[in-house]
Amino acid sequence: MSHFTLKQGVLHAESVALPAIAERFGTPAYVYSRAALQGALQEFLDVLAAHPAGDGALVCYAVKANSNLAILNLFARMGAGFDIVSGGELQRVLAAGADPRKVVFSGVGKTANEMKQALDADILCFNIESPAELERLNEVAGQCGRQAPVSLRVNPNVDPKTHPYISTGLKEAKFGVAYDDALALYRRAAALPHIEVAGIDCHIGSQLLDPSPFVEALDRILALIDQLTAEGIRIHHIDLGGGLGIKYKDDQVEPTVASYLNPLLDRLAGRGLKVVLEPGRRLVGNAGLLLTRVEFLKPGEGKNFAIVDAAMNDLKRPALYEAWHDILPVAPHAGETRVYDVVGPVCETGDFLGLARPLAIAAGDLLAVMSAGAYGMAMASNYNTRPRAVEVMVDGAQAHVIRRRETVDELYAGEQILPA
Ligand code: LLP
Repeated sequence: MSHFTLKQGVLHAESVALPAIAERFGTPAYVYSRAALQGALQEFLDVLAAHPAGDGALVCYAVKANSNLAILNLFARMGAGFDIVSGGELQRVLAAGADPRKVVFSGVGKTANEMKQALDADILCFNIESPAELERLNEVAGQCGRQAPVSLRVNPNVDPKTHPYISTGLKEAKFGVAYDDALALYRRAAALPHIEVAGIDCHIGSQLLDPSPFVEALDRILALIDQLTAEGIRIHHIDLGGGLGIKYKDDQVEPTVASYLNPLLDRLAGRGLKVVLEPGRRLVGNAGLLLTRVEFLKPGEGKNFAIVDAAMNDLKRPALYEAWHDILPVAPHAGETRVYDVVGPVCETGDFLGLARPLAIAAGDLLAVMSAGAYGMAMASNYNTRPRAVEVMVDGAQAHVIRRRETVDELYAGEQILPA
């Protein structure tokens, strides 16, 4: 169920009309629905609670998808943990009220400082991606007088059949430990004095609409767990990563969380392993939109352009991955329908939010770029000295600013000109 719906022809977030948000807070604005965010997490919690293998499971929201404190805090209040990839994200989740014992630390390039920060916070687990990283963690943990809990992120070499930039589980990827090397590295981990083997981890890619590669990956991981058990190396949890896709386009079919998770949980039944999941996009993607205003219509020879006040710096996905986001008029317009490229003011040909969209619009109209809750604001930049958008969370009939719009002064506050 979508929490962004038309009421009397006007697009609403829950009970708040989007034109009222544009009026109060300006555009461009990211608008999120609290009910949509909570509903998405609840779907995971319900499926896990209903399955015996879901006992003790932990949903660690992948912070990178959208790291706003208000969103992290809502998830923390519902009992979620977090999957972080930097010391910055660790600081953020702690500021948002996270339980550090529910934090897993992913990523290929953890610095010694980040490791120390995470050890001091007493996080649940480090997901280790290379032999060198394992050695460094052992050393840092030794200096801190601690034992570092680890999973090895094993690369199962399965094809997630998604965009190459967001595929991670093939052997060509920079991620994870090669499947054939994992056993030897586990032996090494078990022998290191400041490392404690806690789990096993696997993440194969993002925006998967066909869940079968997850099953294929799990089967490979389970075979490895059997080898580990035979050698007396005990695994307590299995981290299945994130990656479950969302519907961006009407012709896409979004797998339910149950259809994704139940086949995995069935395979895990009776093994006594705690399940950890790292969903990002699925929890936030369809809970947010980017609200933007049409500045100008520019009819062209072969093309018509709708120039809007949001740009690639606000939502990078179309430029970076040729990602498709639905673009909806916020209120009905009487004019004729034309085909537009919806573009921003940034000086790049790649600065588009959508190409060849049939729209009946006029200058001054509002548009909603849908499914923008994941990897939207999180990947926004200040390119062209554009302050990042305001973020607003709607809760029923209330709209709360959860991040105010940046000011231009803030953008160069850290800069310094040379002495005369
Ligand atoms: N765990 C790990 C180790 C990851 O690398 C990722 C995403 C996730 C979990 C969460 O995956 P999700 O559930 O969101 O698919 N910027 C791209 C997506 C990059 C995904 C990176 N890793 C986009 O806008 O499509």
